[in-house]
Amino acid sequence: MHQLVINGPCQLKGETWVSGSKNSALPILAATLLCEKGTIVHGIPHLKDVTSMISLLSTLGMVYSIDDKLSLTVEKSNVTLLSPPSDLVKSMRASILILGPMVSRFGEVTIDMPGGCAIGARPINLHLDMMSKMGASVVMMDDKVHVSAPKLTGAIINFEKQTVTGTENAIMAAVCAEGKTVLNNVAKEPEVSDLCDFLRKCGAKITGDGTESITIDGVDCLGSCEHRIVPDRIEAGTLLIAAAMTKGTIKVNDCEPMHLQSVFKLLEQAGASLDIKDKTVAIDMTGDLKPVSITTEVYPGVPTDLQAQFMAMNAVANGQSLIEETIFENRFKHVGELKRMGADISLQGNKATIEGVEKLKGCVVKATDLRASAALILAALCAEGESVLESIHHIDRGYSNIEEKLSALGASIRRHPNYMVL
Ligand code: EPU
Repeated sequence: MHQLVINGPCQLKGETWVSGSKNSALPILAATLLCEKGTIVHGIPHLKDVTSMISLLSTLGMVYSIDDKLSLTVEKSNVTLLSPPSDLVKSMRASILILGPMVSRFGEVTIDMPGGCAIGARPINLHLDMMSKMGASVVMMDDKVHVSAPKLTGAIINFEKQTVTGTENAIMAAVCAEGKTVLNNVAKEPEVSDLCDFLRKCGAKITGDGTESITIDGVDCLGSCEHRIVPDRIEAGTLLIAAAMTKGTIKVNDCEPMHLQSVFKLLEQAGASLDIKDKTVAIDMTGDLKPVSITTEVYPGVPTDLQAQFMAMNAVANGQSLIEETIFENRFKHVGELKRMGADISLQGNKATIEGVEKLKGCVVKATDLRASAALILAALCAEGESVLESIHHIDRGYSNIEEKLSALGASIRRHPNYMVL
């Protein structure tokens, strides 16, 4: 098992760049089940979750090639298996994204129930209800579910709660369904719009993405297209927060500022000055670091996927802040680890009160989930002395080349197999 060894404190300086979005790449890869061979997707991020999705789709029968510039080509778009192996499905919750396209194009799928994970119960009831409303039969079998329909039919679906992958599954189910589908109370995240852009290029008729309601007119089948994945707004946000908390000056290239408005507002409140140009954000944090109180919300609100990183920042800011997590019921696993580093945080249900401390101290900490690991790396960049981050497979699920990117900005961070703490 590898660890990340980080020696702090440091002040980040220099230029870096952002990879393609994990949460766009995953649904778009699932959507390749719907389109013809010849489709090319550029900017695929080199991440564990993406590799797992490609393995899962390849096991079903899809054939891909990927070049050294991380452009993926669909070589064969067909399946020979209608029930993906449990170990692959269970390695990643996003595997539920094959539900819509598999039933739409191949008439059925049997898939493991994803179950709970470190950040919450994460049920799939909204995905299954939506499939039923489109005419599919949904049969539960122990810990699997079999969903089938000779032909899905358009429907009006009012989501009782906004769900990102639920909205994406519904869109993929509806693009080749019989007739019109109207999806209300949908997720407005940029990754949903990126999926819609991809599907439109393949011939789908979708309007309204980015708003509360999406309308889809079913077409017979989809063709092929060429598409570039949008930049990862969570990676960009993580790098900007890292710069703010280390009192650094960095330039983040290849990002999409339009998707980062709530993050910019908070960084400016924290005292950072930002210079935003086209696809580049420069941040300069030379003064006092002020704490920011946040409530996580669906897009365009503050993303839950940056809650842990903002908490790490507040842990070293000058004053008190409050963080409220409203999306997932158990997304505070990083609190205990940040406290081991000297952070002063108290928890009351889904709210955390943070009293900024002057210094954190390096120690051995354990990553519990993807964004918690990012927060611990950020804290370690500010902490005095050596920090050792264990269970780093979590970070590899969502950040490509994290130690290379941070090293290039001046951090002392390296990956070790079986590092011994003396
Ligand atoms: N929910 C239900 N029933 C459902 C689906 C969702 O009750 O059938 C609830 C969830 O339990 C949660 C809320 O609805 O309380 C919102 O969850 P959502 O479905 O939007 O989450 P998701 O689609 O499973 C995606 C991202 C997550 C990100 C969330 C929220 C992907 C692959 N994953 O998850 O990303 O946190 O949206 O923005 O797009 C990450 O990248 O670290 C990550 C966890």
